[in-house]
Amino acid sequence: MKILGIESSCDETATSVVEDGRKVLSNVVASQVEEHKLYGGVVPEIASRRHTEAISQITTQALDEAGVTMDDIDAIAVTAAPGLIGALLVGVNFAKGLSMATGTPLVPVHHLRSHVASNYICSPDLKPPFLALIASGGHSHIVRVDDYTKYTVLGQTRDDAAGECMDKCARVLGLPYPGGKNLDAVSQNGNPKAFAIPHPHVADSEYDFSFSGLKTFVINTVHNMEQKGEEPNVPDMGASVITTVVDCLAGNTEKAALQYGYDNIVLAGGVSANSFLRGRFTSLCKSHSWTLHMPELKYCGDNAAMVAAQGYYEFLSGVRAGPDLNARPTMNIEDAFQV
Ligand code: KG4
Ligand code: ZN
Repeated sequence: MKILGIESSCDETATSVVEDGRKVLSNVVASQVEEHKLYGGVVPEIASRRHTEAISQITTQALDEAGVTMDDIDAIAVTAAPGLIGALLVGVNFAKGLSMATGTPLVPVHHLRSHVASNYICSPDLKPPFLALIASGGHSHIVRVDDYTKYTVLGQTRDDAAGECMDKCARVLGLPYPGGKNLDAVSQNGNPKAFAIPHPHVADSEYDFSFSGLKTFVINTVHNMEQKGEEPNVPDMGASVITTVVDCLAGNTEKAALQYGYDNIVLAGGVSANSFLRGRFTSLCKSHSWTLHMPELKYCGDNAAMVAAQGYYEFLSGVRAGPDLNARPTMNIEDAFQV
């Protein structure tokens, strides 16, 4: 079964054809990074306009590169929530039009579910149940994946997401957008103990996260140093911040895996590209003899192959949408689309 995936939830317009949820036949990403870099972050209005310009052309490209036409496509999977609403609407409306024009079934996909599904592409034998850490620019979740379409959130951030926190720290340290990736790169040889960054704990909820205090600490420290005419050592500060974030993410995931008895651990979301995080989870899983699954770097960030992969499993479980499908800026990963 071949699924066409469409993704436009943030600043990448992406299309892909995936066979049986696992085999990527094409994977096209039109990135807007260079334009948003001028503003130091994603400008939602610009994102929507660029999606509109790119989407038809890259859909044709994904079909061509896969060597198929719409006649070969069994379903169209589209990211319908959560994300920037104007950006999501471009993909959703395009997918609805294509579905109506060609009579191809339409399948709405939750963005975070699709991040988890990037691991079905990279780990062909991976099957639920497993424990997933999903860390992106907007979310930080520890999730039990009981089945391909059944999720239970064990913990989540109370304020900023891990990616957002690292992006803001990168920005105050003078690094260009996209901050998280650049912070990772400059921090490779930094001293992670150079700055004593407080480790946040969330009372009464052992798997939840809180990253806004940590971010504020970094911003205040940098501003205080600047007022004294001092310059922070960027690699040292970066390594200290990332290590603190990774301590939180890995620590809570380890507790949850031990508590619930999981020995298959999955990383997902843009932050799963972080080299410190990947290294920490590699040693953590080795020490417990757990199996670690992480996407290849090209599938960590937003892409449409993961949408098509998750769309396959949603399709098999009977999920369909009609012309009244709408996009939603927020949605719990546990919930099904009511269409
Ligand atoms: O999943 P994603 O591409 O988009 C969202 O759904 O949000 O995640 C983007 C986030 C951004 O905060 C970005 O800075 C972060 O992932 N990110 C990284 C790295 N690469 C991307 N954060 C830390 N280290 C990286 N190497
Ligand atoms: Zn994402």
